[in-house]
Amino acid sequence: MIKAPEHISSIKPYIPGKPVEELERELGISRSVKLASNENPMGPSPLALKAIRNGLKLLNRYPDGSCYYLREVLSGKLQVRPDQLIFGNGSNEIIELAVRTYIRSGDEAIMAHPSFVVYSMIVQAAQGKSIAVPLKDWRHDLDAMASRITDKTRVIFIANPNNPTGTINTREEMDRFMKKVPEGVLIVSDEAYHEYVESPEYADSFTYLRAKNDILILRTFSKIYGLAGLRIGYGIAQASIIQEMNKVRQPFNVNSLAHAAAIEALRDEIHLNKVKQINTRGKKFLYGELRKLGVTFIPSEANFIYVVFREHVSGRVYDEMLKQGVIVRPMGPTSIRITIGLQAENRKLVKVLGKAIK
Ligand SMILES: Cc1ncc(COP(=O)(O)O)c(C=O)c1O
Repeated sequence: MIKAPEHISSIKPYIPGKPVEELERELGISRSVKLASNENPMGPSPLALKAIRNGLKLLNRYPDGSCYYLREVLSGKLQVRPDQLIFGNGSNEIIELAVRTYIRSGDEAIMAHPSFVVYSMIVQAAQGKSIAVPLKDWRHDLDAMASRITDKTRVIFIANPNNPTGTINTREEMDRFMKKVPEGVLIVSDEAYHEYVESPEYADSFTYLRAKNDILILRTFSKIYGLAGLRIGYGIAQASIIQEMNKVRQPFNVNSLAHAAAIEALRDEIHLNKVKQINTRGKKFLYGELRKLGVTFIPSEANFIYVVFREHVSGRVYDEMLKQGVIVRPMGPTSIRITIGLQAENRKLVKVLGKAIK
């Protein structure tokens, strides 16, 4: 039997949250609540849904490989040139394109730990080496990350807000960090949850894009725009970086329904604000209830909350909650990550978590 090379066979597979239907079948339960994958509980804008329905008529055609119309809309909205944008099958694909473009065997990529697990998997698949720098006070330790730069460093991933902790780095910290990173090292500012951020301390990464060459900003339609199932995200960088990344991109990597839906999702600011408001309200509610339960959590700038236990109980808590029909995400032995849901879902979560930690 053919064998995969060691750098592939040793990758620990990403374990996605199970689909609700599968879990319900396995456990013999119904009406369960999935708060495990940081999805938008309200779903996408009705305008996006209408665009999807209209797009069904053209499914026999290949999509527009350049995402022309979305590129036009975003270039105006973000005030960047159209050739500074690249689109992907989720922002995951942009991470992959960046790594395939810039990392060769033996090159290094610096990232925080814990952070988005996909970074290290993609780096390993490219035979690169991941340098994991522990979080400090649950946030990226940017000074420590900068101190790990060597002449082999090609990429530094900053998830801002970070997944799983929901924390951000401040403008001041980011300013200092940007000055320390030399030319020739690509900073990937992964902003999948950017639209949820409320802190006035949050840095505007476009300032760095204007001042610095080697930065790639990532955004997605999977989170606040509620289009996770369609898979579409994008990257913003200097045109020369986008040009190189385009060389390793499949010509039709974004499907036509995703393209059409994303354009309309961007137009519907009313829906976006509603989703954000519901998230803020849900977050405040959960903070209050978690405090009442005596549970420690990390204040979040995103649509999820990281809960930390004093003992190695996250597996047991997860299992107990699952049996009661609430799916969260265990994150190592002492923590779970909870996605903020609709109010009824949040209430059920609190009830079930309360029982599970007894
Ligand atoms: C930090 C971070 N980046 C990127 C993504 C990927 O999002 P997508 O590929 O759906 O755009 C996620 C999804 O969970 C994430 O948490």
